[in-house]
Amino acid sequence: LSQPKFVNALPFPETLSGTYHVMTLSEFRQGLGVYDPSTLSDPEPTEFEPLVWGYNGSYPGPTIEAFSDTQIQVKWINDLPKGNVLENHLFRIDPSIHWAGKIMGEEGHKVKELSGIPTITHLHGGHSEAASDGHPEAWYTPGFMETGPQFYENNGLFTYHNDQEAATLWYHDHTLGITRLNVYAGLAGFYILRDTWEKNLGLPSDNYEIPLVIQDRRFYDNGELYYPYEQEYLEDPLEHHLPDSEVTVLPEMFGDFILVNGKAWPYVEVEPRKYRLRLLNGSDSRFYDLFLPGVDFYQIGSDGGLLDAPILRDRLLIGPGERLDVIVDFSDPAIDGQTLILKNNARSPFPYGETANPRTSGQIMAFKVVLEMEEGEVDNSIIPQSLRPAEFEVGEAINTRQLVLFEGTDEYGRLKPMLGTAEEGRLEFTEPVTETPELHTVEEWEIYNTTADAHPIHLHLVHFQVINTQKFNTRKFVEGDPSSIQLLGQPKPPSEENAGRKDTFIVLPGEVTRVKALFDREGLYVWHCHILSHEDFDMMRPFEVIKKTE
Ligand code: C2O
Ligand code: CU
Repeated sequence: LSQPKFVNALPFPETLSGTYHVMTLSEFRQGLGVYDPSTLSDPEPTEFEPLVWGYNGSYPGPTIEAFSDTQIQVKWINDLPKGNVLENHLFRIDPSIHWAGKIMGEEGHKVKELSGIPTITHLHGGHSEAASDGHPEAWYTPGFMETGPQFYENNGLFTYHNDQEAATLWYHDHTLGITRLNVYAGLAGFYILRDTWEKNLGLPSDNYEIPLVIQDRRFYDNGELYYPYEQEYLEDPLEHHLPDSEVTVLPEMFGDFILVNGKAWPYVEVEPRKYRLRLLNGSDSRFYDLFLPGVDFYQIGSDGGLLDAPILRDRLLIGPGERLDVIVDFSDPAIDGQTLILKNNARSPFPYGETANPRTSGQIMAFKVVLEMEEGEVDNSIIPQSLRPAEFEVGEAINTRQLVLFEGTDEYGRLKPMLGTAEEGRLEFTEPVTETPELHTVEEWEIYNTTADAHPIHLHLVHFQVINTQKFNTRKFVEGDPSSIQLLGQPKPPSEENAGRKDTFIVLPGEVTRVKALFDREGLYVWHCHILSHEDFDMMRPFEVIKKTE
């Protein structure tokens, strides 16, 4: 790879504040900091401008800034390409899986073609009403020519109540069966929720607060984005009477270019002072184990808001969908004038796959400690001893569910990761809902990972509390027989960084993770693996919060 690193300035997406926004999704060209290799020796190498999708002409989309308990509305307008979806999507759709374009009639055959790209936007980490949550089947095509079976009457005008604490949230596409492709095309952005408590803490703010979304990508030689679809592991697709071009979903997707805020391996110039970094892993499948030689991280928050107290860490593991809120202090004279490189050495797939390539995915971005503070200026920001008014505690659970992560192969020999219950075994996304928490109750969910990989499991609507994790005997486990669950050793309480409000949690292979949450809005939601290739096929299930009728 001849691509030069740390030559692209880190972009800062535009910030939108206020209580009403129009966000238009469309296709456009944008430089992602990737250069034509044949021009690299030129004084001004040519930056490719691939086709991307974004919001209001920008990838990542504008950062929405909101305040606790102040409701906002966003009108999500679908202006993505019209016409045959299979031909007009930037990447190859796999029509053999459950996806938005598979509109089946009563006789079980396809009854309708879509007239444009379907989309639906989910606010990840938002305590959203069901009608504004972005259910994968609430999608709509441009002009609402076709809509999914869970489409709501609000026509994409979503209300966010923001009745939750300050936190780093993000919005992204969630269309059934093509989320991985729509997000890869660029449909993602930050949503930062603030509150007065946090404001009064004296954390680094304004120019000293930087949101960073890390996403891996691949490119064709001509600079266009490439989402791989080769099916080397399929022995003979034709034998199954399925053309090769239709079987494109992959077990995982890993890119060899690292983009931060939409630029390849960018740099940012910093002053010798404290900065707050809001890290988001917006990648398809890649986990990152981040470290910044020369500087430590003070983690102050996770998915759903601030931790009780800061934690000093030298490495930060972050799975797809997770957020980490950290403070770094660049004031040490020993690093003055230096370029510090944020590095990664997580294995892919996590945790037992290949090590990161130190020349590509092993590097993320650079911090150049080259700016001067204004004459006489001092860094007044602090890292407080305590961050929250009271300890985070969800309350007593009235019901416990045993849920299971499975991995198998489908009829074409493709890896098919799935969810299910201990009693019923694996369940497809389209099978009837089995998780029906009662409104305003706390439930405990035990999530057993029988597979060989880690899966970042995400629940919509709630922030959960991790109770503990424990090993179990996967070889003794029998699908559909809860009595076969053989726990091993003692349950382990969550590490400090996982003790806060979480909405996505890395469930390790051979372990059960026990979480509990308050289900306090009625309606239909989903829970799923946030490896987008898994979520699309078929590692996602509905849950429905139901009001008890006397
Ligand atoms: Cu970030 Cu259901 O997803
Ligand atoms: Cu997964």
